[in-house]
Amino acid sequence: MSLKRLSLVREMGLLWIIFVFAVACQSIPDRYPVRAESKSLAEAQQVAIRDELVKHFGSPKSPIVSSLIPPSLGLDSKGVLAGQVLFKTHCAKCHGVLGDGDGRWLDARRGPRDFTRGVFKFTSTGGTPTKLDLERTIRQGIPQTRMNEFSELSDSEISALINYVKFIAIRGVLELRLIALMGEEGELTDELVKEEAALVSKPWESVEETVIVPELEEPAPSQKLLAEGRALFQSDRAKCYDCHGADGKGGGAGGENLKDNWDNDVEPADLTLKDYRGGKRSIDIYYRIAGGIPGTPMPAMRKVLSAKEIWALSQYLKSLE
Ligand code: HEC
Ligand code: HEC
Repeated sequence: MSLKRLSLVREMGLLWIIFVFAVACQSIPDRYPVRAESKSLAEAQQVAIRDELVKHFGSPKSPIVSSLIPPSLGLDSKGVLAGQVLFKTHCAKCHGVLGDGDGRWLDARRGPRDFTRGVFKFTSTGGTPTKLDLERTIRQGIPQTRMNEFSELSDSEISALINYVKFIAIRGVLELRLIALMGEEGELTDELVKEEAALVSKPWESVEETVIVPELEEPAPSQKLLAEGRALFQSDRAKCYDCHGADGKGGGAGGENLKDNWDNDVEPADLTLKDYRGGKRSIDIYYRIAGGIPGTPMPAMRKVLSAKEIWALSQYLKSLE
């Protein structure tokens, strides 16, 4: 190897070491960053919101959970801090220490790495994720994306991580609502903050009641059901073909130039790949079709299609190659 090549290899090695060091050293900041959405508010209004949030959630270095957050959510200051420590070790390189997507892993472009908007894609409710949904995402990862699987973590570690993600989502969504309210009302009262905190916590409190339960158990596979699924896929009622293409591989006319809520480009999934992002069990596919994928253009079909039709589609998708 020439001397020049050798020194290049050495330089690349050095760069790599610096990169790994920078990732490992991602420290916990003293304050939460100012959100872009608040930039239109007056300085005093921004300070008022920040003070309210510090009162109820503490700072990144010492998170607290105030009494505004219902105890049934199972969040407490110690648990959140424990979750943050684990999050820093395992997740921060992509999601950022504060879970706001400010990770330094430059190649993790796709996806909701920002949890502060409180929107999650792969849920059994078509909205707020249950504990089980988040556990599945973390343990199994999200196939076809950078989100790896963390199968080696213990139950209590997973629980702490989930609580940290929940804490970030609740704090973040409340912050966004207070910013919007401040814009309309001009000032915040304790009463208003209390009401808003209750509203933001509500979907997490009642999440188990919102799990989609098919009105019909999965029918046994049959040629008839498969044919029904195929016809529906190509129908103008279900419109699956429009985004996913007639062969399910993507590339339909309605699927061009789509964005998700985090401003990433998204493409309709290639449904012939068996390793679905949201899971490959029949019920996972049912949830995806019935509840849609929040934050993306993939629509929820449970008000349009019957349970039998959704099962028929699900069976058809499984037959695609
Ligand atoms: C190598 C990068 C990477 C690491 C490390 C990582 N994630 Fe992710 N994560 C992603 C990407 C990318 C997505 C978005 C995927 C998508 O949009 O389909 C994501 C999505 C998620 C979601 C959202 C799922 C949904 O339904 O929307 C959760 C929750 C999550 N990650 C939790 C974690 C936790 C907890 C850890 C640490 C144990 C972690 N992630 C580590 C890259 C990563
Ligand atoms: C407006 C466009 C659009 C329509 C119409 C549409 N989809 Fe999708 N679909 C998407 C997009 C975009 C994604 C990928 C979202 C993501 O992962 O970020 C997706 C993802 C999916 C997934 C998830 C696959 C996985 O990896 O977990 C399934 C299943 C699916 N679609 C089935 C259907 C079915 C069945 C229909 C018809 C009832 C349909 N889609 C209609 C845009 C659409």
